[in-house]
Amino acid sequence: MVITVFGLGFVGLTTSLGFAKYGHTVYGVEVNEERLNTIKSGKLPFLEPGLGEALKCYLNTSFHPIAADQLNTAIPASDCVYYCVGTPYGKDGQADLTYLFGAIDQTLQARDASPKYQVLVVKSTVPPSTTSQKVIPYLQAQGITVGKDMGVANNPEFLREGHCWDDFINADRIVLGVSDDRSAALLRQVYASVKEPVLCVSLNTGEFIKYLSNTLLATLISYSNEMSLVADAIGGIDVAEAFRILHMDKRWGGATMASYVYPGCGYGGYCLPKDTNALYAVSRTAGFDAQILHNVIATNDNMPEFMADKIIRAAGPDKSQTIGILGLSFKPGSDDVRDTPSAKVIRALLDKGYSHICGYDPVANAEFQRVYDLPIGYTDTYDELLRNAQVLVITTAWPEFADVREQAAGKPIVDCRYML
Ligand SMILES: NC(=O)c1ccc[n+]([C@@H]2O[C@H](COP(=O)([O-])OP(=O)(O)OC[C@H]3O[C@@H](n4cnc5c(N)ncnc54)[C@H](O)[C@@H]3O)[C@@H](O)[C@H]2O)c1
Repeated sequence: MVITVFGLGFVGLTTSLGFAKYGHTVYGVEVNEERLNTIKSGKLPFLEPGLGEALKCYLNTSFHPIAADQLNTAIPASDCVYYCVGTPYGKDGQADLTYLFGAIDQTLQARDASPKYQVLVVKSTVPPSTTSQKVIPYLQAQGITVGKDMGVANNPEFLREGHCWDDFINADRIVLGVSDDRSAALLRQVYASVKEPVLCVSLNTGEFIKYLSNTLLATLISYSNEMSLVADAIGGIDVAEAFRILHMDKRWGGATMASYVYPGCGYGGYCLPKDTNALYAVSRTAGFDAQILHNVIATNDNMPEFMADKIIRAAGPDKSQTIGILGLSFKPGSDDVRDTPSAKVIRALLDKGYSHICGYDPVANAEFQRVYDLPIGYTDTYDELLRNAQVLVITTAWPEFADVREQAAGKPIVDCRYML
């Protein structure tokens, strides 16, 4: 099959290379010129284990990275068009669908005069009812009869950053939100070589499953964080030890999911914050004010302030001390800094007048500086940060910070990740 994929970020690049591995011919479209050129040169634009080898293997054989001006070749040849563009925070916490509809417009413009039946597939995370109540009416308003002229579906993605390739090619299950049999049959062909279950559900169910997954993870994290606040208020509780012992319960069955039932300084990254907000917003619009989601978000929003207060208690009133922030990416093993709790903790400290802040991350210094442009310093090495700072704060649980107690020479340490 021939497939065009819009967006070559974490999801789009992984999807493109995964489909190339399944034996399809893939055109991957990217608007960000720098990102496109990096990929064309055989390099990854972000840190992602295993994906670089796949890129080397399929680049210019079955995977063709292209700019928008080559869509006139790619789209008419394609059986399916996949959308893997960003769906960031929009107004009032709703998902911003601008990139998705921009890419749909580009698709329609690039179709030829007598186009073949194609399926447009939303792989971006979009709130339940987006495909049925926004995408389909949008196409129909342009004279397209969905189900006859073209198909529309969603195929949510469950990969984790830091494990993109492995999660994609060893997926637990493939979810297809479909509204007609023809589209379902075509999409089953895309995944014909996959052994895992391919589950066809309604359009809204497909989208909902993704939010069910992400909001559950966010809820587990906020629950854990709230419990850490309860423990802090009571006092005399070893929070890390308590959670480690909780995980020894046989009912968890050693599940890696248990790692989400652990406190920290709040969930971050691209997905959990925006997706929890978006489901809360869409549910409110539909007439139901979801109280658990409301409190999951409120607890998460509160965590940077709680951690900043803890740091200030450790630093004392002398605001001229240098506070060393260990970890800037949203999680270890990734250089993604989108919605990273480190930035929120730093902002809270700056707001309270602690302006001598220095950050260090094994891989994300430059990206963090580029995205946030905060008035702080950076060190190139862990040792330099240990020397320069008077107070040490772990904000990302990179394994290399595990020996900070031995290295700190008695300086106060605030372990926002309960990793020590
Ligand atoms: N990152 C994750 O772990 C993850 C996991 C599952 C689902 N998702 C969802 O997948 C979607 C993409 O996430 P991501 O992390 O890959 O985002 P990303 O920001 O890394 O990538 C999106 C890419 O789309 C490109 N783009 C935007 N409009 C375009 C257009 N018209 N044509 C071509 N390229 C275009 C952007 O330049 C960018 O490179 C989001 O909806 C996200 O919520 C992400």
